[in-house]
Amino acid sequence: MKKGFLITFEGGEGCGKSSQIKLFVKYLKENNFDYILSREPGGSSFGEEIRNILLHSKEDISALTEFFLFCASRCDHVEKIIQPALSEGKIVVIDRFYDSSFAYQGYGGGLKVDMLKEINSKATGGLTPDLTFLFDLSYEEGFNRKSKDDKLKDLDRIEQKEKAYHEKVRKGYLELAQKEPERFHIIDASKTIEEINKEIIKIFLKKYKNNY
Ligand code: TYD
Repeated sequence: MKKGFLITFEGGEGCGKSSQIKLFVKYLKENNFDYILSREPGGSSFGEEIRNILLHSKEDISALTEFFLFCASRCDHVEKIIQPALSEGKIVVIDRFYDSSFAYQGYGGGLKVDMLKEINSKATGGLTPDLTFLFDLSYEEGFNRKSKDDKLKDLDRIEQKEKAYHEKVRKGYLELAQKEPERFHIIDASKTIEEINKEIIKIFLKKYKNNY
C-alpha cells in the first residue's frame, strides 16, 4: 500500500528536534519536494483531541492506559493522514511516531516492548518509517534547554516525570536504534543547529535516492 517516503523524528525532551523539523521542511519546500508534516500524539483531528487528554489531563493514569491512547491516536492518524499521503507518493515527515511509545511507555514506563510492538502493529497496519532521526542528548542538557525555551511555563504531564524516567527513555531509544541500524540515524543533539541541519539533509538525500 505504501508508496511515498516516511521520515520520523524522535528524541527526549528539549533535544531540539522541533527546530530541526522546521528547517528540514523549509528545505523540502524550497526544493519542490511533495511533502506533508504531521505530529504525534495528534496529526488527525480526532488524534488532536486525544493529544489534549494525554498531555493535559490531571488524572493519574498507568503506562498501559497511556499506551492505548497513543495507539488510538496513531491508528486514526495512519488511516486518515499518513497512509493517504504515502499512497499519493508524498514524503511524510512526522514529529514522533511509534518509537516514542516504545521508549516512553515501554522503557520509561516499564511495559514489555514486545507486547507493545504487537499491539502497535495493529494501529499502524504494519507501517514502518523509511528513516528515523534520533536526537540524543543528556537529561540535564535537555531540561536546561526546555526551561529556557518555555520560559519556565508549566510542564506537560509527561515532561513532569522524574529524571530516572527520562534517563530510561534515552537508554531505550538507543537500544531501539541499535536493533535497527538501517532505519535509525542517531544525531548528537549537542552539535550546532547548522551542523545538524546539514547532516539531516545529507542522510535524507542518500536514503531517498536509494529508495527510488
Ligand atoms: P510534545 O509537546 O509534542 O513534546 P516534544 O516537543 O517533546 O515532542 O509532547 C509529546 C509528549 O508525548 C512527549 O513528552 C513524548 C510523549 N509521547 C509518549 O510518551 N508516547 C508516544 O507514543 C508519543 C507519540 C509521545
